[in-house]
Amino acid sequence: MSQRLPHLTSRLQGFGTTIFAEMTALALEHDAVNLGQGFPDFQAPQAVKDAAVRAIAEDHNQYAPGSGLPPLRQAVAEHQQRFWGLSYDPDTEVTVTAGATEAVCATLLALCEAGDEVVMFEPYYDSYRAGIAMAGGVERVVTLHPPDFTYDTADLEAAITPKTRAILLNSPHNPTGKVFDREELEHIARLCRDHDLLAITDEVYEHLVFDAVHTPLASLPGMRGRTVTISSAGKTFSVTGWKIGWLCAPPDLTTAVRTAKQFMTFTNGTPFQHAIVQALRLGDGYFEDFAAGYRGRRDRLVNGLSEIGFEVFRPQGTYFVTADVRSVGFEDGIEFCRTMPGKLGVAAVPNAAFYIDPRRGRSLVRFAFCKTDELLDEGISRLSALRGGA
Ligand SMILES: Cc1ncc(COP(=O)(O)O)c(C=O)c1O
Repeated sequence: MSQRLPHLTSRLQGFGTTIFAEMTALALEHDAVNLGQGFPDFQAPQAVKDAAVRAIAEDHNQYAPGSGLPPLRQAVAEHQQRFWGLSYDPDTEVTVTAGATEAVCATLLALCEAGDEVVMFEPYYDSYRAGIAMAGGVERVVTLHPPDFTYDTADLEAAITPKTRAILLNSPHNPTGKVFDREELEHIARLCRDHDLLAITDEVYEHLVFDAVHTPLASLPGMRGRTVTISSAGKTFSVTGWKIGWLCAPPDLTTAVRTAKQFMTFTNGTPFQHAIVQALRLGDGYFEDFAAGYRGRRDRLVNGLSEIGFEVFRPQGTYFVTADVRSVGFEDGIEFCRTMPGKLGVAAVPNAAFYIDPRRGRSLVRFAFCKTDELLDEGISRLSALRGGA
């Protein structure tokens, strides 16, 4: 991370090579069970795949409108109403993006002046810091502490200064699996209202919740008018490669974000946009089975790791679980993740990569359970050699 790269602007120094590239290469080299990368190992729903194929065959292959296909904006609005009771106008308040990643980046670019501060929680999803940096903003970070990954309310209050523009919240949260509870959301909302801040919420795991209730921040009093709510089809329909995301926000915020977005990708994935219309309208059974399947995989991996002796922080949502490697005789998560592919044939990701100061996540690693039962069992069986310490 610290090596200075030639040509690269100072804004982006430090964002060079990530630990993920190294872990993926190690996993491949050793033919390891890859519990590091967070892409689903499952087939997308057949009806959704068929809809994409049909859209291509019917020649829906040219640019979609910059704000997204009207039927998809309509389907997103229906989805927000159906699941969260939030009402958005598909024409003026819903925008389709190239995944949640573009939605986050376009929002930051549109809304941050150089020097504006954005408050976010760590560990964090890695694109946030880069997005803030590209916008010329300044990150202010509040740490989530194990075992429940709660934050100290005084830390969040202290992170807000006269320069704060927005709070960026990811719930359900990658990598910890935390789902922010009502009390926390009310605290965050109160701070937004009291300090006149915007909220940017990344809710890509909104349908992956097990022992908790997901509440969009926008649904709290006084928040709809100041929140950009972001999600994506990738996780919910196991189509991460399609990169179809969206954001919902009141008209003035939507117009601002569309202004930035039109010069980024302008538009993307027309046939996939058609298919996601079908996906968002799948029956309740799909969403229930989807969460139930992941709950089973969560239990499988959490139980397997616990039996080996790992201290595991049971996730309430997402498809990630964080564990502390000190419980199996290691001190350092990076060393653990560098050693495991060669030694036992399993890859994981060190959480240190998700902290401003890597020492704060030093002993934590993340395993992904978006994998088949066979693969999870194989990974657990290989890791069993750690029983009783390294
Ligand atoms: C918290 C979070 N936000 C955003 C993304 C990326 O979403 P997309 O592929 O839709 O850009 C991911 C993917 O892992 C994620 O974990």
